[in-house]
Amino acid sequence: MSNLEKTLIVIKPDGFKKGLVGKIISRFEDRGFQIVNLKLFQFDVDSAGRFYEAHKDKHFFDELVSFICSGNTVGCIIEGNNAISTVRLMIGNTKSTEALPGTIRGDYGIGFTDNIIHASDSVESFIKESKIIFN
Ligand code: CMP
Repeated sequence: MSNLEKTLIVIKPDGFKKGLVGKIISRFEDRGFQIVNLKLFQFDVDSAGRFYEAHKDKHFFDELVSFICSGNTVGCIIEGNNAISTVRLMIGNTKSTEALPGTIRGDYGIGFTDNIIHASDSVESFIKESKIIFN
């Protein structure tokens, strides 16, 4: 049974600087997902704070906001069967050093804050996060 969903990915400044935009988007297309919206932009501190609001009390919040605002990012809405959970599996563990080979973070990431890519973890997160990026 199919479960058509949309999800959001954000290629972070480290992924952009490493020239990985095309490779990363190709992975989702190769898997059979549709790209339904795409935007090159740079976060400001206000929108980054709202984007990462769930982490505002964590010790790494300031570092996270500073990092995500440090350069260009690419936001992309992806649609397909079980998009939210499948895309999360494809990006891999949050901590890049623990992400499995074959996942995006496992193949390209080295850090925790700088872990190449973000993906929404629920329908609610997708709605909230995509509004911040795509208005
Ligand atoms: P992301 O998927 O964008 O969602 C929240 C981000 O916080 C996460 O990726 C990491 O980049 C970052 N993060 C989560 N836990 C930690 C941590 N313990 N130390 C530093 N950064 C973290």
